Amino acid sequence: MLQSFNTPNRRDRAAYHLPVMPLEVCKYLITDENGLYVDCTFGGGGHSSLLLQKFPNIKIIAFDWDADSQNEFKERENIFNGRLTFVRDNFKNIKSALSNIGVGSVSGILADVGVSSKQFDDETRGFSFNSSVLDMRMDLRNALTAKEVVNSYGQEELADIFYKYGEEYRSKQIASAIVERRKRGIITSARELHDIIRNVKKSEGKINPATKVFQALRIFVNSELENLETLLSCAPSALNKGARIVIVSFHSLEDRIVKNNFKQNALNGVYNIVAKKVIAAGYEEIKQNPRARSAKIRAAEKIYE
Ligand SMILES: C[S@@+](CC[C@H](N)C(=O)[O-])C[C@H]1O[C@@H](n2cnc3c(N)ncnc32)[C@H](O)[C@@H]1O
Repeated sequence: MLQSFNTPNRRDRAAYHLPVMPLEVCKYLITDENGLYVDCTFGGGGHSSLLLQKFPNIKIIAFDWDADSQNEFKERENIFNGRLTFVRDNFKNIKSALSNIGVGSVSGILADVGVSSKQFDDETRGFSFNSSVLDMRMDLRNALTAKEVVNSYGQEELADIFYKYGEEYRSKQIASAIVERRKRGIITSARELHDIIRNVKKSEGKINPATKVFQALRIFVNSELENLETLLSCAPSALNKGARIVIVSFHSLEDRIVKNNFKQNALNGVYNIVAKKVIAAGYEEIKQNPRARSAKIRAAEKIYE
């Protein structure tokens, strides 16, 4: 039954989000085949459904802050036979959210961070270059939008955001072009922002020159790095002894945060780093799912009681 949920051969499900490195996630996460796990980033339920299918005695508490993801869950809730609980919350609140449902610690935590393909491709969300809106919130309950940042932040603040979260080397020139363009009225769409950036930066091979600024805005609007840092700092107290944390990340800023956290916890005797080297997707998977190209997995195991 569960096979019908988000498997690559169903075009509608696959369109939501193809789970990245599914075999590796199963291999590194599961240490107790009767355990209770947390999937911090349910999305289209790709990883959760695979795990529930492969390990028929585990249960999962899934987090996602996006109402679309919650709807995905609701539509298919019945096929999980009570083995999957959904919590619509920021995963940084993992400890309090688990405590609210009477759970202290779990057998493993998975986070596949960033936006889903569905969020990215949905033109009404404003993540893509040709979108007619400028929003970029993953959780529409949050107040801050990309439109507000682009239209009301000072030139220096904008340049800092583009540099810090996008490692954009033309950050100052792009911020200046945005502020200049604002004199003629509000920038209302991702498309307009894209055009402003393209007037400053020429193409760099196959990569769109606006990629880094869009990434920076998205990370800033959603406080992505801060949320990841908070999750990582809460994780040891939410894991049983012998339980693992597995993080799938998509860019170097996130991977650095995970790497440093695991290293520090290993030095403090909290974690054993499970895979000494970062795990990347293989050629066949990248061919089928190009998004997997930049994915990296790191895994650690809690070693004290
Ligand atoms: C890359 S997708 C996960 C896809 C999922 N693993 C699957 O196989 O379908 C990331 C998801 O995490 C959610 N997300 C990102 N940051 C979050 C946060 N801080 N709290 C809760 N959900 C978050 C996004 O809304 C998105 O749905």
